[in-house]
Amino acid sequence: MQNPFHFRELPVEAPFCNRQVEIKELLSHASNAANVVLFSPRRYGKTSLVKKVQQQLSKKKLAAIYMDFFGIDSVDDMSARLASRVFSFCHGNEPLFKKAIGFLSVWRPVLRPDPEYGISLTVEPTARKKGVELLEDTLSGLGRFIKDYRRGCHIVFDEFQEIVELRESLQVEGIMRSHIQTHANASYFFVGSRRRILNDIFNEKKRPFYRSAINYPLPPLPSEEAAEFILEQFRRSGKVCPQAIATRIVEAVRGYPYYIQRIPYSVFEISGKRITEEDYTKGFRKALEGERPVYEALLQSLSLQQIKIISALADQVTESPYSAEYMARHGLGSVGGLQGALKKLMELDYIEQDRGVFQVVDPVFGIWLRHLKEGS
Ligand SMILES: Nc1ncnc2c1ncn2[C@@H]1O[C@H](COP(=O)(O)OP(=O)(O)OP(=O)(O)O)[C@@H](O)[C@H]1O
Ligand SMILES: [Mg+2]
Repeated sequence: MQNPFHFRELPVEAPFCNRQVEIKELLSHASNAANVVLFSPRRYGKTSLVKKVQQQLSKKKLAAIYMDFFGIDSVDDMSARLASRVFSFCHGNEPLFKKAIGFLSVWRPVLRPDPEYGISLTVEPTARKKGVELLEDTLSGLGRFIKDYRRGCHIVFDEFQEIVELRESLQVEGIMRSHIQTHANASYFFVGSRRRILNDIFNEKKRPFYRSAINYPLPPLPSEEAAEFILEQFRRSGKVCPQAIATRIVEAVRGYPYYIQRIPYSVFEISGKRITEEDYTKGFRKALEGERPVYEALLQSLSLQQIKIISALADQVTESPYSAEYMARHGLGSVGGLQGALKKLMELDYIEQDRGVFQVVDPVFGIWLRHLKEGS
């Protein structure tokens, strides 16, 4: 029997747990041409959710355009991604495609047969413009496209926080904001997982995007629904999972959407028809082993001091990391060093302060860190 749990990209038609309220609210914001900043920790289901929202909007004949800013390395790269997503959306509708070429005249779409993709669409600039000037022209062109598309447009910028990595980031924010506010017929969703950075872009008084979008935090999955989701997936694949085990999984991962699929996936792999306590423990360990490369990569990007702190928090959450007792117990060095490291870890969204308590954001990463220390 095929494993019913998905932990890589979630197909749009795959079973989805809960989120009805979110889908309804987000659809409503999109229909009102409101802008939304959708944020949560990593692997909470933001991309899957906006794709579902866009699928519904496409059915209502809105132009649903999705683009990912992951890894953008220059303003030109960003403008090119924008243009190519608009052309891709129009491709297959000859009159619309021609219009888009007229609106976005600073870019020329280039279609090439591609052995893997069928046809690949890339873009080339038509003039010598570059950088922010090219971005201005691209956004003006996008504005003309939106104005012409009477049924309305919905544009998603996934991993939006990546723009702060650009050298000209403040200027880029300013240009984007000034164009977007004139796009009356469009709703923009700014999506991302580095919550501090996104929050600063939209909620710092001096920043161009200040208060220009509805803040929409995506919460973890509610426990009951998440447990029911797990039970149902086992059931439809011919296995029986006791309620207590499903609940244990949800509690251990604090309703973290990715792990609601990841842990049961491994449990499913190693179990027989009826899931036992032993399957749970073995499956959990197997999932941890599978995630090891991801966790190791997270650690590799950190300094020794930062690793010490995140390990301390995995071991013991605290309201007062600066207390002499906590610092001594975990060997955390100087207050100054601790301050800097905590700030950096929060910016990376590896740790968070939840109702005053500092903790590791990803609970399973936390479990892994604890075992690393214990050497098991
Ligand atoms: N509501 C849900 N029901 C079932 N599974 C879900 C749900 N939400 C998320 N998932 C699981 O979590 C995984 C990660 O989801 P997704 O890639 O959409 O998250 P994300 O928040 O965009 O992550 P990232 O911040 O890394 O881009 C999905 O592949 C899926 O397995
Ligand atoms: Mg995503």
